[in-house]
Amino acid sequence: MYQEVAENPEGDFHFYHGRAAAARFDYPLEWLDSAPRGAVESFGGVGNPHLRAALAPGETVVDLGSGAGLDAILAARQVGESGRSIGVEMNPVMREKAESNAAEAGVRVEWLQGTMEAIPLPDASADVIISNGVINLSFRKRRVTEEMFRVLKPGGRVSFTDIVSAKQLSQSIVNDPKLWAS
Ligand SMILES: C[S@@+](CC[C@H](N)C(=O)[O-])C[C@H]1O[C@@H](n2cnc3c(N)ncnc32)[C@H](O)[C@@H]1O
Repeated sequence: MYQEVAENPEGDFHFYHGRAAAARFDYPLEWLDSAPRGAVESFGGVGNPHLRAALAPGETVVDLGSGAGLDAILAARQVGESGRSIGVEMNPVMREKAESNAAEAGVRVEWLQGTMEAIPLPDASADVIISNGVINLSFRKRRVTEEMFRVLKPGGRVSFTDIVSAKQLSQSIVNDPKLWAS
């Protein structure tokens, strides 16, 4: 689904995406203006994890499910040259798109292919984990949480935005993974 957005950002989708979504979630417009167009157009998040991440120069930040790269690229700009921004993405097509978007912007991000259920990073290696509309996609959320705690340094932080349903969803929605994307 997210690959479809990245390949056809003008398409009709049942969820907010692209620049309009990011603006709606209070991403500063100057951040969006200076980010690579491909990453902004393909943005598929559900909120703004940067509002609470309080990223500081020199920190190591990991973006779980980095998609076309907007959040990891914006994180790289906040942690600066002395920090590290690492995007973890399971879909190789999205990983490559993110890599070329970051190269276009001249931003250094490390792009790792892998899953949030088995984060391809050593124990206690990250100061901050961010994620935007990805954890809800996993049916192994306890495992994802264990992985986040394994990878975080003591005193590390997590800032993620996601969707939660306050009411029981109908079986037809639960059975349609396309509708999990939001
Ligand atoms: C909502 S988008 C991420 C938005 C992204 N932060 C941005 O800046 O546009 C969701 C991404 O999570 C990836 N994803 C889904 N399940 C995953 C998993 N188990 N591990 C890693 N990535 C996953 C999808 O391939 C997709 O690219």
